[in-house]
Amino acid sequence: MTFPVEQAADPLAAFAPGMHRLWLEVGFGGGEHALAQIAAHPDTALIACEVFDNGICSLLSHLVPQDHEATAKLPGNLRLWPDDARTLLRRLPDSSLDRLFLLFPDPWPKSRHAKRRFVHPALLPELARVLVPGAAWRVATDDPIYQAWVTEVMGRQSLFEAPPPAAMRPSCWPPTRYETKALRAGRAPLYWTFVRRG
Ligand SMILES: C[S@@+](CC[C@H](N)C(=O)[O-])C[C@H]1O[C@@H](n2cnc3c(N)ncnc32)[C@H](O)[C@@H]1O
Repeated sequence: MTFPVEQAADPLAAFAPGMHRLWLEVGFGGGEHALAQIAAHPDTALIACEVFDNGICSLLSHLVPQDHEATAKLPGNLRLWPDDARTLLRRLPDSSLDRLFLLFPDPWPKSRHAKRRFVHPALLPELARVLVPGAAWRVATDDPIYQAWVTEVMGRQSLFEAPPPAAMRPSCWPPTRYETKALRAGRAPLYWTFVRRG
């Protein structure tokens, strides 16, 4: 059920046969979005990355009976990467990802921690390398500092088309737990769809 690192050069081989494309989610939290996506797109392979053990347990609790996590089989179109997504991204082949999700990333609001933010000028060439030309990179955040940061970083690059964000979640985006909490607290998320330039 864990994505085997040895398969990184040929990632679709780690999934059930018949997958037509590969998507990757960074920081799936409780897994609500990943589970909704694999159910809605059975012929799409999804690698779901999360470093937080409680998040991994939460996702597995929706799929397998308690105490059977180690032996249980995941759906054929889902594999987990229980580690930093960036270590996997570096191992994936060029133009191997058809979509990337970064939903409500940790904002690291202090400027001295800005280098830890996933949206970062230093990471953009790596993301552009693994994404197929025309592929979408969906990003959402409710944090005003991160919103300003995304606007600034994506406004200064040329690898992605970067239209302005939507103020409402597009209907084809499943919700996430963190988004629900943010909306309940009265915060105002923004939703970007960046497109890898060809
Ligand atoms: C604020 S939570 C949002 C979770 C979920 N996307 C949601 O919207 O409910 C951010 C999550 O990203 C995970 N995370 C942060 N950086 C990561 C990375 N580089 N690779 C994988 N997971 C990461 C954290 O452990 C955390 O669970």
